[in-house]
Amino acid sequence: MILGGGHPLAPPPPSVPFPPESHLHVRGPAAGTLGMRCQVTSLNDVTYATPPRAQVQGAGPAAWNLYFSVTVTEPRRGGDTRPQEGREERARTYCLTRRQKQRGGTESSRATMALMGRVALVTGGAQGIGRAVVEALLRSAAKVSVVDINQNCGDSCKSELDAEFGGGSCAFIQCDVTDGDALRDAFQKTADLFGHLDIVINNAGINNEKNWEKTIGVNLTSVIKGTYLGLEHMSREYGKPGGTIINVSSMAAFMHSPHQPVYTATKHGVIGFTRAMADASVLGNYGVRINVLCPAFVDTPLLQSVEEEDNMGKFVKFKEDFKRSMDKFGVLQPSLIAEGMMRLITDTALNGAVMKITCSKGIHFHTYEPMSA
Ligand SMILES: NC(=O)c1ccc[n+]([C@@H]2O[C@H](COP(=O)([O-])OP(=O)(O)OC[C@H]3O[C@@H](n4cnc5c(N)ncnc54)[C@H](O)[C@@H]3O)[C@@H](O)[C@H]2O)c1
Repeated sequence: MILGGGHPLAPPPPSVPFPPESHLHVRGPAAGTLGMRCQVTSLNDVTYATPPRAQVQGAGPAAWNLYFSVTVTEPRRGGDTRPQEGREERARTYCLTRRQKQRGGTESSRATMALMGRVALVTGGAQGIGRAVVEALLRSAAKVSVVDINQNCGDSCKSELDAEFGGGSCAFIQCDVTDGDALRDAFQKTADLFGHLDIVINNAGINNEKNWEKTIGVNLTSVIKGTYLGLEHMSREYGKPGGTIINVSSMAAFMHSPHQPVYTATKHGVIGFTRAMADASVLGNYGVRINVLCPAFVDTPLLQSVEEEDNMGKFVKFKEDFKRSMDKFGVLQPSLIAEGMMRLITDTALNGAVMKITCSKGIHFHTYEPMSA
């Protein structure tokens, strides 16, 4: 249930403020794993970056997710929940999803209902992660515009997708995202072709330390431009009904890769920009949710570039270290990244969320230390 109407992908309207530092008995999916009293330790820690707006127990409009950190006191036998000496209390993040629980139905059927007829634009959508996301969107009955610099790859992508999903649901627009006018045209062409725009995925990215200024242009400047263009087509500021934007960062933003210093900087920048814009969207009542997705290593052509001097410049000599990291942390399949992306697209409670996807923890969210004065 989304209260108050509006665009189905836009954030839910404000409701009951959640009282800070309060105790709650956790219900919903977390209850099965916890089944004990928890204390909300910090509401600034929430992944949903604005003051939480949900009521988690009792009567009322408990209709969306609430993300929060709790300190869990492990129960002793017999249900005694007093802290145990020598055992650390652990902060964990939980998500209460009462709306989904009440509604029933599978994730994919819910996604199809939410996305039927919606229009998405995916930059860098012709291969790798972008291509997996495009396929997931088409499976959910969305219309998709694939915006990519690579003409050959885009053409073959389009004919394969037309063969699988039928013509008319997918368009390929050849475009270098660093060319501001071309990117603006790509957004306009998408809206003209499909009638409107609801979802923007700023995914195009490169790994080039030799031409590091180009890396900043593609990975950061174009993400900023793509976000602003997305707002022009979707935000209430421009008289549009709302929508959602997802910017692709990387776990490199958390790992300080010595072989990719500029790539790392751009991915930090994407997170900072996205979180600031998510807050601006709330304050400005844009009706657009803006989130960021950070995958660990993913099996795509981009990963092969770490072996090339042309890409890595002087840092190519660290390639063995990079490969050891890949062995240590594992390599994900693009389909899992698409699954996380679909969650960011369809979960109307998420704004300013930083989703991380790793082999060890799967799809999960980053939480931040609360700001202290
Ligand atoms: N593969 C990984 O291990 C990994 C991990 C974390 C984050 N990422 C990020 O995921 C995103 C997608 O990466 P991928 O692994 O699928 O890479 P990829 O190289 O397989 O695909 C990138 C796509 O972007 C397109 N592209 C590149 N420059 C462009 C430009 N200037 N204009 C338009 N399109 C352009 C390419 O043609 C390609 O189709 C990137 O932002 C990347 O940084 C990748």
